[in-house]
Amino acid sequence: MSPDKIAIKTENLTKVYKTTFSRYQVKAVDNLNLEIYEGEIFGLLGPNGSGKTTTIKILLGLLFPTSGLVRVLGKPPDEVIVKDRIGFLPEESYLYRFLNAEETLDFYGRLFRIPRKERLARIDHLIKLVGLDDARKRPVKEYSKGMARRLGFAQALINDPALIILDEPTSGLDPLVARQVKDIILDLQKQGKTIILSSHLLADAETICNRVAILHQGQLQKMGAVKELLQPGETLETLFLKTIQASRS
Ligand SMILES: Nc1ncnc2c1ncn2[C@@H]1O[C@H](COP(=O)(O)OP(=O)(O)OP(=O)(O)O)[C@@H](O)[C@H]1O
Ligand SMILES: [Mg+2]
Repeated sequence: MSPDKIAIKTENLTKVYKTTFSRYQVKAVDNLNLEIYEGEIFGLLGPNGSGKTTTIKILLGLLFPTSGLVRVLGKPPDEVIVKDRIGFLPEESYLYRFLNAEETLDFYGRLFRIPRKERLARIDHLIKLVGLDDARKRPVKEYSKGMARRLGFAQALINDPALIILDEPTSGLDPLVARQVKDIILDLQKQGKTIILSSHLLADAETICNRVAILHQGQLQKMGAVKELLQPGETLETLFLKTIQASRS
């Protein structure tokens, strides 16, 4: 992890949503300047509606910014070569209800053109990694919310991505599974991956993120290493609340 290797850079990134029927516009991301280093776990934090998911969708090339610059692994995010190297867990996973876990991962593995032998090995490894071994043949429509979330997480890793973007990875998971997911994230970092996650679970973010950004109303309020941002005795939660209150007043 070093500042001279930058995985993601945004410059004055702005996204304005224009709603069809209403005259008003929403500035979801407002002149955002981010630098995310290779090999770090970076937390994108902020209250509901602060622009986290919008930022993530822009980084993935799913949304175009209104203005500003984005570079992901040195390239514009809509380039195919970049997409091949990214894994993404959306806020809500859209899984095919009639496929089981193996078939779901096989479908995505084929999309990435992973050769059969490697694909099957990876599917088996990922199913075990997220603890779905006993449910691998059950159709996804029978899954609990947490099981579906775990399959979504496995899906995000199917292409062995260098950059992993997780929108609220532990939401809906029981404490035991959330702990396992955090351990997997730390392990992915050890393998040299870059991980960006959004989360409302600030205690979790505090334990696993190297650096965080706190957004409010689309604007960057604070960014830095967790260790450096926190005063003695302060937690990420108290810093978060203080930061949001200060930006409101
Ligand atoms: N498709 C859309 N059309 C219009 N406005 C949108 C759209 N998507 C998001 N917004 C608005 O943009 C702002 C930021 O939303 P976004 O989903 O990025 O927030 P978030 O930080 O991910 O929130 P949460 O913590 O609730 O997931 C909000 O005001 C939201 O209403
Ligand atoms: Mg969101």
